[in-house]
Amino acid sequence: MNKLKVMTVFGTRPEAIKMAPLVKELESRDEVESICCVTAQHRQMLDSVLNIFGIRPQFDLDIMEQSQTLSTITSKCLLGLEKVFQQVRPDLVLVHGDTSTTFAGALAAFYQQIAVGHVEAGLRTWDRYSPFPEEMNRAMVGRLAQLHFCPTAANRRNLEAEGITKGLYVTGNTVIDALQTTVAENFNFGEDALNRLDYQGKRVILVTCHRRENYGAPMEDIMAALARIARSHRSVELVYPVHLSPVVQECAHRNLDGLDNVHLIAPLDVEEMHNLMARSFLVMTDSGGLQEEAPALGKPVLVLRKETERPEAVQAGTVKLAGVCRDDIVGMAEELLTDPAAYARMAHAVNPYGDGRACRRIADAVLCHFGRLDRPPEPFEG
Ligand code: UD1
Ligand code: UDP
Repeated sequence: MNKLKVMTVFGTRPEAIKMAPLVKELESRDEVESICCVTAQHRQMLDSVLNIFGIRPQFDLDIMEQSQTLSTITSKCLLGLEKVFQQVRPDLVLVHGDTSTTFAGALAAFYQQIAVGHVEAGLRTWDRYSPFPEEMNRAMVGRLAQLHFCPTAANRRNLEAEGITKGLYVTGNTVIDALQTTVAENFNFGEDALNRLDYQGKRVILVTCHRRENYGAPMEDIMAALARIARSHRSVELVYPVHLSPVVQECAHRNLDGLDNVHLIAPLDVEEMHNLMARSFLVMTDSGGLQEEAPALGKPVLVLRKETERPEAVQAGTVKLAGVCRDDIVGMAEELLTDPAAYARMAHAVNPYGDGRACRRIADAVLCHFGRLDRPPEPFEG
């Protein structure tokens, strides 16, 4: 029997981190010819992940431009992927999450009448403009895909509420698979400033912030809140690997440069990021991925957004929505810095997003869908 041609398509840092273990899993299956295509919507931040996981894509569209717009990303992906899909004719295209690459990848495959599998399916805020454009991207991919790999049972219910009832699998999130390979007790950071930090004597707060809907006033407020926390708490060391977006770089440096307990550093590679998180006191972020990783490491998270499509860890008590108003953010961080009981209530390890076996389940589900395996995988039960 011919091998099943499965093409993974991704382009940004988070997609790469979450698809890397799946690429490895597919490569290990005899029944599968695994082909990897990157759009390189991100260049440096993508390459860093590819290097760590030792992935050499067969196709690289290299589309990134400085300050790119949603339309340029989408149109360059569509045109580039059309050629790749026509050349390879995969049996299945796997896309991940909710970026412009994800949407364009699913649409380009649909135009070639190639089956689409959506990894990290069914996350919803039900607000079309928040996160923007991600909420609409994932909803549109939900319509385009035939296979939906939902991290949690709640994600599955979201799709069912939209009338999507076939090809649903609850698998856990592949990020938990990735996390199991990166964190090490005596990890040595490439960045020496991180080796020198006093993780016991100081309170290391790990910050990331990059979302488009936070550009402008919300991001100004977030940065002002961070500056106030750093100024009024000398025990705090605030470590902020700044996203390479020119908008974010400008805002972060203008508000935070010159504070001696704020460390604005370049984006970390994923191993460094996971190990820094494991040593931190608190995570403050508008990132999706960090909301999944930090709870697994027992780290409280304040989410710098008004909503989240990841309510499971909020329900488990390890994540709180801090919003984007300066006073609210400062107030919630100060509670955790000054009230040990409040901190202890949030700082326990929970794993609502996965058990490290998501990739195995996804590969099994793919084989089952194409008749190469008798039974679908047992669902992940969080
Ligand atoms: C994108 C995704 C977002 C995801 C985020 C992860 C969309 C619409 N947004 O947002 O869902 O959460 O990635 O980080 O798909 N840049 C570089 N080098 C890099 C990466 C980015 O220089 O390696 C700069 C470029 O100037 C680029 C800009 O950052 O134009 C913005 O990148 P873009 O992919 O458009 O948006 P993100 O905010 O990264
Ligand atoms: N990450 C990283 N280095 C950094 C910042 C983030 O490796 O400097 C990782 C993080 O651990 C998570 C992923 O990138 O796995 C999240 O990506 P990002 O915040 O860019 O996107 P989102 O998850 O919000 O879509």
